[in-house]
Amino acid sequence: MRIAMIGTGYVGLVSGACLADFGHQVICVDKDANKIASLAAGKMPIFEPGLGELVASNVKAGRLAFTEDLAGSVRDAEAVFIAVGTPSRRGDGHADLTHVFSAAREIAAALSGFTVVITKSTVPVGAGDEVERLMREANAKADVVVVSNPEFLREGAAIRDFKFPDRIVVGTLDERGRKVLADIYRPLTLNQAPLIFTARRTAELIKYAANAFLATKITFINEIADLAEQLGADVQEVARGIGLDRRIGTKFLHAGPGFGGSCFPKDTRALMKIALDNDVQLRIIETVLSVNDNRKRAMARKVAQAAGGRMRGKAVAILGLTFKPDTDDMREAPSIPLITGLLDLGAIVRAHDPAGMEMACREMPDIEYFDDPYLCARGADALVIVTEWAQFRALDMMRLKREMARPVIVDLRNIYHPADMAELGFVYESVGRRRASRLRIVDDSDVGSELAAPRSLSTV
Ligand SMILES: NC(=O)c1ccc[n+]([C@@H]2O[C@H](COP(=O)([O-])OP(=O)(O)OC[C@H]3O[C@@H](n4cnc5c(N)ncnc54)[C@H](O)[C@@H]3O)[C@@H](O)[C@H]2O)c1
Repeated sequence: MRIAMIGTGYVGLVSGACLADFGHQVICVDKDANKIASLAAGKMPIFEPGLGELVASNVKAGRLAFTEDLAGSVRDAEAVFIAVGTPSRRGDGHADLTHVFSAAREIAAALSGFTVVITKSTVPVGAGDEVERLMREANAKADVVVVSNPEFLREGAAIRDFKFPDRIVVGTLDERGRKVLADIYRPLTLNQAPLIFTARRTAELIKYAANAFLATKITFINEIADLAEQLGADVQEVARGIGLDRRIGTKFLHAGPGFGGSCFPKDTRALMKIALDNDVQLRIIETVLSVNDNRKRAMARKVAQAAGGRMRGKAVAILGLTFKPDTDDMREAPSIPLITGLLDLGAIVRAHDPAGMEMACREMPDIEYFDDPYLCARGADALVIVTEWAQFRALDMMRLKREMARPVIVDLRNIYHPADMAELGFVYESVGRRRASRLRIVDDSDVGSELAAPRSLSTV
């Protein structure tokens, strides 16, 4: 199958490389000349485990190429995927479809012969109808079928998710369209991945409903974490206790600083707007969004509390900036409102992230960045673990303690045990678990006197 992938971002690049790996002939198109130049030079524009190798081997095999030439790529393609961004529209939270519609017009003008155009971008219900209308307006003679095929991959595990999906959703009632999609995904269906055929609008809604449900699950356990803190219960044990019930499931029950990332915030906002436009109120989703926004802001206060209250002039080391591990994506990362909140309180912020510092620097140029977590911790009055990168799960705590001015750790991902941290002499705050020590920073002078002697440490 000859495939053109329009938009070579996280989704387009991973999907294009995986489809090429299935044996299809794929050309990835982007209007960002720098991105294409860097890909052509073998340099990945994003951090995604295994992507560089996958791209290189498929380029070498002659199945994958990169270009800025949309028209030339579409002309020869049997299937054209639209995988451009659909960010939140400034001001109202609707999905901004500017890129989708402009890609649709450009594709329409270049079509020749029967072509299936597949929307992989996350788009509001009914957007496929509009894409089809625009294409027919731009090229009345085009023999085209517009199909919805939402993508469910997760950054950080994107290749595995694409190659071993829980399901593939294909939205079209057109038989020719269904056949082309079945051919594209045959390597996966041979592997037993369920291919769900449905109507286009239903497929579009499936994507939003899935993200909204997952965002709700996260928010639910975050609220239970707040309650657990007050009650002296342990949210991780609660999560396990409920998650082993197969009707609930253990995934997405990790309490933390609130969800962020390129999808959940914008997609839940967009779903709420779609509903309002259709006179339906999604009160659960509205609540999820506002609880999550408040939570992200509250994290700075949590850090301040652990550090003794006053933050003016105090140095805070942040470990982890990206919205999750194994990506460099900073979109709506919880670290951003946390850092902004700390700066507002007068703190001096130092930060380290294994892959996200270049992106973070663009968002937050006014903080100091360090290539090494221990240098980042040097002289800090508090250290906050914001993203659960694997390398933060086995930090040398004694070294960290020697580097820090005060041994205060706020672990927003619950990757350490409160009892272990107390034994090591840390003031240790986590999420939804009671502090295990009698240590408490009351004001600037009484930290050292309350420290217990360090013994051992194990990590979860
Ligand atoms: N990132 C994820 O984990 C994820 C997962 C599932 C679905 N999605 C959805 O997939 C879509 C793409 O997301 P992303 O994270 O890959 O976005 P992205 O911003 O990383 O990439 C989009 C790319 O499209 C390019 N582009 C825009 N208009 C173009 C045009 N007319 N012609 C050619 N290229 C064009 C941009 O230059 C950019 O490189 C979004 O709708 C998103 O909601 C994302």
